[in-house]
Amino acid sequence: MALLRHIIEAQRDWYKPNWLYESIPGLYMGAGVFTFVLLRNALGMFSGGLFIVSSVVVSSQRYLYRRQKALARAEKEEEHKELKKLGTIVWRSSFHCGDKLIDEQHKFLVSEANRIIGAIIDDEQELDYEKTLVKLLRDIQRHFRDEEKFLIKMLPEVAPQHKATHQKLMDQTMSLVDDIRAEEATPYELLSFLLINVITKHVVSEDLKWKDMLEG
Ligand SMILES: [Fe+2]
Ligand SMILES: [Fe+2]
Repeated sequence: MALLRHIIEAQRDWYKPNWLYESIPGLYMGAGVFTFVLLRNALGMFSGGLFIVSSVVVSSQRYLYRRQKALARAEKEEEHKELKKLGTIVWRSSFHCGDKLIDEQHKFLVSEANRIIGAIIDDEQELDYEKTLVKLLRDIQRHFRDEEKFLIKMLPEVAPQHKATHQKLMDQTMSLVDDIRAEEATPYELLSFLLINVITKHVVSEDLKWKDMLEG
């Protein structure tokens, strides 16, 4: 059966036009030289010349296209470096503040961040940026509102300062939204800002500061 499958696959590969596609510049070049040598007259020089020019044009176009693709791939790799470095955010019990709603929201935001980072790194084509951004922004805004209400009740001395920190993050977010509209920023930049600055640096770092005061 394995042999049969091997034969069938080999047959199928033969019919794939890739081998033909790859050999076109060589065929043009060979046809050009052959025409030159065979005819040795003005028509032969003209026809052979056309084949050789076609071979050079096709080769250079392919080279430029492949180079552009390789550069775009390298650029994407570079762009994703920060998120790759971030990796998976491990949820720890020490992140709990004791309030059921706030803890659930924090945990949910961290799991969403992990899911989105994984999707970006694994297969970005599959990620619907607009849908992901709208949903993540809505979740963050809802969380900020609930956390501010919680802090007013539990730590009123901390609440105004923390609300100002949330506002600053939202201002930066909205400024990035404006930049996207003006085509000066990409949805990827906004998404990585939310994942790195809002979820990783704020939720898993800044929020822990008032959590300690709550315990004290
Ligand atoms: Fe929070
Ligand atoms: Fe917060």
